Amino acid sequence: MPNNIYNFSAGPSALPEGVIDTIKSEINNFDQGMSVLEISHRSSAFKKYADESEENIRNLLNINSDYSVLFLQGGATHQFTMLPQNLSYEASADYLVTGAWSAKAANYGNYHTNVNIVSDSKDNNYTSLSDTTSWSLNNDAEYFYYASNETIHGLEIHETPAVNVPIINDMSSTICSRPINVNDYDLIFAGAQKNLGIAGLTIVIAKNDLIENKAKNLPPILRYESHAKEKSMLNTSPVFAWYVAGLVFKWILDQGGLKTIGEINKEKAKQLYEYIDNSTIYSNPVDKQYRSWMNIPFIIENDSLTENFLSEASKEGLKNLKGHRTVGGMRASMYNAMPIEGVKKLIDFMDFFQSRNLNNV
Ligand SMILES: Cc1ncc(COP(=O)(O)O)c(C=O)c1O
Repeated sequence: MPNNIYNFSAGPSALPEGVIDTIKSEINNFDQGMSVLEISHRSSAFKKYADESEENIRNLLNINSDYSVLFLQGGATHQFTMLPQNLSYEASADYLVTGAWSAKAANYGNYHTNVNIVSDSKDNNYTSLSDTTSWSLNNDAEYFYYASNETIHGLEIHETPAVNVPIINDMSSTICSRPINVNDYDLIFAGAQKNLGIAGLTIVIAKNDLIENKAKNLPPILRYESHAKEKSMLNTSPVFAWYVAGLVFKWILDQGGLKTIGEINKEKAKQLYEYIDNSTIYSNPVDKQYRSWMNIPFIIENDSLTENFLSEASKEGLKNLKGHRTVGGMRASMYNAMPIEGVKKLIDFMDFFQSRNLNNV
């Protein structure tokens, strides 16, 4: 992020500085004097790049050949509908609702399947998760759906739920933020615009035997299996977004891979939560064991200070800290591209703001 500007946007969000530099240096010539903005997804240069990028994300997440990796369009929201259409058409599926995004996915699910809400954290304003022993799981469900990180409410489930049916995880705001065991899941999807680049690309990592021979009533464009067979080039691919994701994969590898990235992300979140918990005027409402590493909402007790906080923070170069319109307050989204210096600068600013407003709480 140039000029000491730190972008805390929830998505689309900050890109690693090195990635923007590479885009600048390559933008005029990706292949034989042509820009990546003007080449075909079927050109041999792009196909080679696409293969390399798939190999890199497979290396990063340790994805074996039992899984397909798809580079699709339509955003994560499109997955809310593609999933039940492919995997549970007119059958039933379990949904764990822990925030706005899983709630929306369950609503979309209703168009295609019988949605069973296993548990809904709405009663506690999406600040905690009910005890797993109280969940109403259906062993005949085609799949169990959840979002391990709720971007708006900042609630994160750190352990994969133990269920007896295929597990689907919306990892839009947490993919590649630390090592995971892909084999714990049957299908993972994630919009790229938070941890993997820019809007326009959605990554799907699907177990082959989950998607094979499914949904033959659907046209190919809606079927996972067709996209897998065509290596995500069934129709025109999102060339530029895919190119940027490829640069982000390389950047993560250059940083030392997901282990290193995960340690940095953990430290960033620890420092901000510690500051908030020990402060006088700020608080975060989420149950400590379910706090997100990526999206940290916080409020000021006296809400009339919120607007001042946001405008003063913005003048200091701390951008996009406004909480989601449905939640209010503030939210710091700290994906991989947010350096620890940005978090330290935010904490320093919060402390300065607090010291000047102690009499207004
Ligand atoms: C967890 C999660 N799921 C789904 C979405 C929807 O993504 P899109 O706007 O790409 O459809 C978002 C967007 O922020 C999200 O954070």
